[in-house]
Amino acid sequence: MTKKIVTLAGDGIGPEIMAAGLEVLAAVAKKTGFSYEIDDRVFGGAAIDAVGEPLPKDTLEAAKSADAILLAAIGSPKYDTAPVRPEQGLLAIRKELNLFANIRPVRIFEALKHLSPLKEEIIRDVDFVVVRELTGGIYFGEHHLEDDSAQDINAYAAFEIERIVQKAFELAKERKQKVTSIDKQNVLATSKLWRKVADQVAKDYPEVTLEHQLVDSAAMLMITNPSRFDVIVTENLFGDILSDESSVLPGTLGVMPSASHSANGPSLYEPIHGSAPDIAGQNIANPISMILSVAMMLRDSFAEKEAASMIERAVEKTLSAGILTADLGGNAKTSEMTQAIIDNL
Ligand code: NAD
Ligand code: IPM
Ligand code: MN
Repeated sequence: MTKKIVTLAGDGIGPEIMAAGLEVLAAVAKKTGFSYEIDDRVFGGAAIDAVGEPLPKDTLEAAKSADAILLAAIGSPKYDTAPVRPEQGLLAIRKELNLFANIRPVRIFEALKHLSPLKEEIIRDVDFVVVRELTGGIYFGEHHLEDDSAQDINAYAAFEIERIVQKAFELAKERKQKVTSIDKQNVLATSKLWRKVADQVAKDYPEVTLEHQLVDSAAMLMITNPSRFDVIVTENLFGDILSDESSVLPGTLGVMPSASHSANGPSLYEPIHGSAPDIAGQNIANPISMILSVAMMLRDSFAEKEAASMIERAVEKTLSAGILTADLGGNAKTSEMTQAIIDNL
């Protein structure tokens, strides 16, 4: 059956890397017979410019009825002081589709080891996943801004913690059987509840080890001993910060994909990075984050395992051949790297 994929290219480098991701999807589909149609919609700053809001109703409706959603990136300094920001659209689509489970894998490509600012022996065995809670916490509590005071509410219900921690344990069962739950329970009430619920969930997974870490020392461990992690699970804000920190290990944000799942609706796939306004429009962005997001979509939403693996192998081969964009120290253009990946499929 033909699958419907909604694409949201967004802003900055978004359209450039989306084009790259779709070219690779088309090439792999030709080889495997995967049948799909694309429904492209405006989103983010592009949608504010076109219709005055970052998540127009018809974009949301299309996303809700899709089989999967591909999102490139949104945001621009142009909206820094505007009443409506592209980021509001991103938070709204996550909430509307109930995409509570954000999966951000961290691995080191053999060919890129030398790019990491960390010593090779430290990053050698790095292979972990950040499971970030995506529809709760301080992002979605009330925000109040006055002239001389401000307030953001961080709130979690037990069920929100339970379902994300369960996701982490399910993943760990298929991996190295270890979950690290990260909180700030020495200060925050939400974290005390987080830790209690995590301990309860752990009882249903006797084969998986649960450890707790405080977020400040966990941030340090991610640099000093990153190979100790298997599955990290944490609240929305900590997950945002720690996942960008984790991009230091492979050496660039430009290779990091993600998947966001709900309980039963369509999933959304997007790079973890933003719209990179500093390099937009120059055909120099690294398309790998988007291309690997396409691979995650093929595997998670469509059970197209071979197609996903083909893409991942082609990316490895391309990097090993020394075809590198500027963020990787090379001079390949976005379009050249994309073509090389297609040639290597
Ligand atoms: P960013 O992730 O856009 O960029 C950080 C740095 O990484 C920049 O130097 C950029 O050039 C580089 N970079 C990012 N992706 C790259 C790629 N594919 N290839 C090469 N280099 C890459 O973060 P920022 O500059 O703090 O934010 C820019 C805008 O993006 C902001 O408006 C922010 O809100 C938004 N943002 C959006 C998303 C999203 O769409 N999911 C995520 C993060 C930030
Ligand atoms: C991300 C981004 C978003 C977030 C921003 C753009 C709202 O940084 O996807 O990591 O904080 O979740
Ligand atoms: Mn982020």
